Amino acid sequence: MESRYKSYKYIEDLEKFIGQEVTLQGWVKNKTGKGKLQFIILRDGTGICQCVVYKPNFDEALFEEVKSLTQESSLKVTGTVKKEDRAPGGYEIDVNNIEIIQLAKDYPITPKEHGDAFLIEHRHLWLRSTRQHAIMRIRASVMKAIRDFFDNNGFVIMDSPMLTPNASEGTSTLFETKYFDLGNAYLSQSGQLYGEASAMAMGRIYTFGPAFRAERSKTRKHLTEFWMVEPEMAYFDLNDDMDLAEDLVEYIVQYVLKVNQAELKTLERDISKLENIKRPFYRMSYTEAVDWLVKNNIPLKKKIDGKEVEITPFPWGEDFGTPQEEAIMEQFDKPLIIHRYPTDVKAFYMKPDPENSKVVLAMDMLGPEKAGEIIGGSQREEDYDNLLNKIKQHKLPEEAFQWYLDLRKFGGVPHSGFGLGVERVVKWITGAAHIRETIPFPRMIYRIVP
Ligand code: 4AD
Ligand code: MG
Repeated sequence: MESRYKSYKYIEDLEKFIGQEVTLQGWVKNKTGKGKLQFIILRDGTGICQCVVYKPNFDEALFEEVKSLTQESSLKVTGTVKKEDRAPGGYEIDVNNIEIIQLAKDYPITPKEHGDAFLIEHRHLWLRSTRQHAIMRIRASVMKAIRDFFDNNGFVIMDSPMLTPNASEGTSTLFETKYFDLGNAYLSQSGQLYGEASAMAMGRIYTFGPAFRAERSKTRKHLTEFWMVEPEMAYFDLNDDMDLAEDLVEYIVQYVLKVNQAELKTLERDISKLENIKRPFYRMSYTEAVDWLVKNNIPLKKKIDGKEVEITPFPWGEDFGTPQEEAIMEQFDKPLIIHRYPTDVKAFYMKPDPENSKVVLAMDMLGPEKAGEIIGGSQREEDYDNLLNKIKQHKLPEEAFQWYLDLRKFGGVPHSGFGLGVERVVKWITGAAHIRETIPFPRMIYRIVP
């Protein structure tokens, strides 16, 4: 049998069919009407379209069925396409035939307001809502922009495994699972270590996939499963790495502005703030950032013995949390890269700064508008002995890192890379209130369903 799919018509293409008859297939978003006229707002995933059903064109029974149509009932409509500026979406279908596929009963998400807990419980249906639909479309664009950026700039995609024998981002956030007779395996926290091996084979690579963190943090910015793109480049130093990170972020934001105007409008996003996201961005060292915190009396908030205490002035050597990051970012209308963090707060694989061994050649990019950390990266330790010492200091299992150490034995070179969290970027660009709205089915410490 010949496939029919190429003959299907979608709402997003209606401009090509003005004056012609088409059949649309979708769901009832809304229905209004009085007397002889019924207006169905149909959605099909690509857009929404007003379908006008006029009683005299239908037999009595079918018209009664149309009148009883409920939200999210599925149907096919056939009719003539008209341009209609007053209709949502800009086109209208003058319906001459309707086929009801399934009549939905008591769809739980009505146009009235619902609480967050209710919506997230119904995530499988919530995805159909206008706002969620717009966020997901922008997410898809962000992912496409990422792939286009790297594919068009000489990078080779080299996927990293999800099941791994060792940790890369510290042992406190590992998801563990049994692996046949070989002991424990861990869900990947980051593809980086494999990315480094791949970069030595291909020059410039990127890995793009999910990352898993058994994060206890119940914040608006943490998922236990999120998507990360991680470029890794042989011969890149920290400066090259920061330049690339800025180019990528500029590209993503400008791409979304180009293709997602309708979605950004739905989300009532202030577009001028995004239009401004052009290089150069801002940079400062960790030490300069601490000086600023001290000068502005921003304290360190820390839990000691279960009690929250405030320490001023902010002590050099402590990691930044959301309060410090947000305070610093208030001055900036574009992303800021903070570089050269204290060795003790960063991962084992980072290279110490040759000019100051207390800090490593690390960089984090913070987004404006309370976006928080969107990128974390570094220049990597390329010396065998130094790396082995770090693995020992961090009490990591030496055995499991032999292959990683090999990269320093056989043609070790300076190299750098970073990871960009897709959901953090989508949250920033869309202005979503919570990161759970930026991935189709969020995984958080207190939720694994649906
Ligand atoms: O800073 P992170 O932990 O860096 C790495 O994993 C490195 N191995 C990356 C590299 O150099 N190749 O994570 C990178 C980014 C963060 O900046 C953030 O955007 C995102 O990943 N991220 C999370 N997003 C959502 N939920 C979480 N729990 C996240 N943890 C990190
Ligand atoms: Mg980080």
